[in-house]
Amino acid sequence: MTQGRLPRSRSDCEALDRADPLAGARAQFALPAGVIYLDGHSLGPATHGALARVEQAARAEWADGLIRSWNTAGWIDLPRSVGAKLARLIGVAAEDVIVADSVSVNLFKLAAAALPLAKSRTVIVEASEFPTDQYVADGLARISGAEMMRVEADQGLAALERTGGVLIRSIVNYRTSDILDVAAAERVARASGGVIVWDLSHATGVLDLKLAMDGTRLATGCTYKFLNGGPGAPAFVYAAGELAARLQSPISGWFGHADPFAFDAGYAPREGVSRFAAGTPGVLSLSALDAALDAFDGFALSDVAAKARSLGDLVIARAEAMGLEAISPKDAGRRGGHVSVRHAQGYAVVQALIARGIIPDFRAPDAMRFGLAPLYIRYVDVWDAMDQLADMLETRAWDTPAFHARAAVT
Ligand SMILES: Cc1ncc(COP(=O)(O)O)c(C=O)c1O
Repeated sequence: MTQGRLPRSRSDCEALDRADPLAGARAQFALPAGVIYLDGHSLGPATHGALARVEQAARAEWADGLIRSWNTAGWIDLPRSVGAKLARLIGVAAEDVIVADSVSVNLFKLAAAALPLAKSRTVIVEASEFPTDQYVADGLARISGAEMMRVEADQGLAALERTGGVLIRSIVNYRTSDILDVAAAERVARASGGVIVWDLSHATGVLDLKLAMDGTRLATGCTYKFLNGGPGAPAFVYAAGELAARLQSPISGWFGHADPFAFDAGYAPREGVSRFAAGTPGVLSLSALDAALDAFDGFALSDVAAKARSLGDLVIARAEAMGLEAISPKDAGRRGGHVSVRHAQGYAVVQALIARGIIPDFRAPDAMRFGLAPLYIRYVDVWDAMDQLADMLETRAWDTPAFHARAAVT
């Protein structure tokens, strides 16, 4: 449900923006003039703090400090210190999170580490899951000899219940924005003897996550979407404290070693989740992410999640009034921070919107995705973007050869 009445005019939207408890957050973002950015579910925008920090990390720490900065600027601690900062956003203990590698690599590490703990050597993934999750599941099953089980959308839990294997599952589906009930899923996992490796890529920074309370044991997620860490910013890894000590990462790299600078011949894992570090961390990206996370300081995640729901309700209401079908749940409590709307020529429509300074994205075959990042998207932004979409559909301004030409990234 939305937090209040659906706005019916631009002035209703202005009133909601004035009353918004998150209104103060937007000034932290370096948004280009004349752009309504509805793609924060794919690549979050830069914050002023992150830009300044990258400058500092590059010029003062790298150029001037050189190798000394591993110690003097705290580079060596960044995977843990940034992980600790991020922990509040997913509702877990600070010491149970690190930042390292990509989601793809972390899914592999976590699922491989979970296999020996699960009742059966089965890797389960849904066919509606983000492709990398499916590819990783496939690859892991192939090299480990585990059984690969690809099931239809929403059948992952039933498969887990039957097999007690390892399920790789997103909390928020990348295309539809559907949410799974984490606590209920974890109860199924425990009863079955199985383990869930959660992909939080589309959930972190937009839902009021309470992973520890919900019994979550293993998770990873992107930081370049709603966390605004920057293009290719490293992902995070969460492993519940009591479990982490029993897990073995399949990538026993030196940064996961208990004492990397002892240069021992033999491998001994670090304490806790830090054993999932592998190689040298990307310091410039970690520095950007570190500063970007400050944008959430002082704001309640419950307000963030409530506003995402309200903005989503507004997109759906306006899209339906244009005769478009939303493929995201209408029940806001079952939806993440983006809304997908179907249009047979969605790619061209999105390109035409981008040409007008309104930036959503497109996922084949026909989903136009509107990302509703509550820290910087205002109700008036959504209202204005939907006005432009309505005009576009009425005038068919999208129907030109230039807007049909596919780029590599959609
Ligand atoms: C649900 C989901 N998982 C994983 C990824 C990819 O993560 P990475 O590129 O860090 O491996 C994405 C990227 O958009 C995603 O949406």
